[in-house]
Amino acid sequence: MSLADIISVGKSSQEMRTLQLSAVADSTGMLHVNDRTALSEILSAKRNGTLQKLDGWFPLKDAREAVNSADADVIVDCTTTNYRDAQPSLDCMLAAIRKGMDVVTANKGPLALQMRLIMDEASKSGRSVKFGATVGGGTPFIDFGMMCSAGTEIRSMSGVLNGTTNYVLTRMGEGLSMQDALAEAKDSGIAESDPANDLKGLDSAAKIVILANSLTGAGFSMKDVAITGIEGVTVDSLAEARRAGGQLRLVSTYDAALRALSVSPLPVSISDHINVSGMNNAVTYRTANGNEYTLIGAGAGVRETARAILRDLLSLPRR
Ligand SMILES: NC(=O)c1ccc[n+]([C@@H]2O[C@H](COP(=O)([O-])OP(=O)(O)OC[C@H]3O[C@@H](n4cnc5c(N)ncnc54)[C@H](OP(=O)(O)O)[C@@H]3O)[C@@H](O)[C@H]2O)c1
Repeated sequence: MSLADIISVGKSSQEMRTLQLSAVADSTGMLHVNDRTALSEILSAKRNGTLQKLDGWFPLKDAREAVNSADADVIVDCTTTNYRDAQPSLDCMLAAIRKGMDVVTANKGPLALQMRLIMDEASKSGRSVKFGATVGGGTPFIDFGMMCSAGTEIRSMSGVLNGTTNYVLTRMGEGLSMQDALAEAKDSGIAESDPANDLKGLDSAAKIVILANSLTGAGFSMKDVAITGIEGVTVDSLAEARRAGGQLRLVSTYDAALRALSVSPLPVSISDHINVSGMNNAVTYRTANGNEYTLIGAGAGVRETARAILRDLLSLPRR
């Protein structure tokens, strides 16, 4: 199949949408895609490191150039997350919005640091920003939270939002050292080669910020979260949690009344729905009308994340 008519998804012809890939970029350059280029050709060139040999490729000095030279309605941002300044993703998102493009992103950095700015810009320009892939991979925690808060409001939430740390804590609870549990997670492709953002609690903090902002309209950022990672967790602290009838989990919380956000390792009772094991994530929403809802699902994974991106693309308004 050529890239000009790459993806058609829908149950009926009325729902059918066609996505056309116009360009792809990585940290080295950008490829303008023409009708004759097959998607499989691009993917194998990327895998083999020969992207620059394809027709239409040119080097990029800066990622912002990619947005300026793209002729597209939507930008899909899957660049590396950084929590220092969220660049170059933040500038790319803002440039795309100002250029009249919608944005679909899996990158938590810009939303964790500057969500209000981004959403205000999008609203001024009448554009959409979709970020379902940033929390829970393929599990729709944000959409589920929207449904739970319809006609009421979220008073508080608590969740286990990072698969890597949950895997490590689960395996440590089974007797492994943190070093061995982490090595196992890396070997099986669960943890990134540099899992520092996970272990320090930054990934969980970004996710609770994105959830709180998108479900309550607040304008929190990472600096508003009291963060303790799992680096200090020992076999003794896990045993203590077990003696108290629970398990140690890296828990993210939001309390609307206190306007407080936190991430820390806490003992979670065995019967608590958010006491998930391995790579799973879970979030409990508590609403003003006294209801409590929990969603559990796989928190990451390349295919699940790609599915969340596709879901966001298909939910963009027709222009
Ligand atoms: N993987 C998951 O399960 C998952 C789940 C949810 C969210 N996410 C988020 O999705 C994003 C992508 O994840 P990933 O696992 O695919 O990460 P990755 O393997 O590190 O890929 C990042 C991509 O971004 C490109 N890139 C980095 N800096 C760039 C720049 N300055 N200009 C242009 N391109 C740049 C890289 O190019 P090169 O190939 O040239 O290095 C690479 O292709 C991250 O923000 C991550 O947090 C991932």
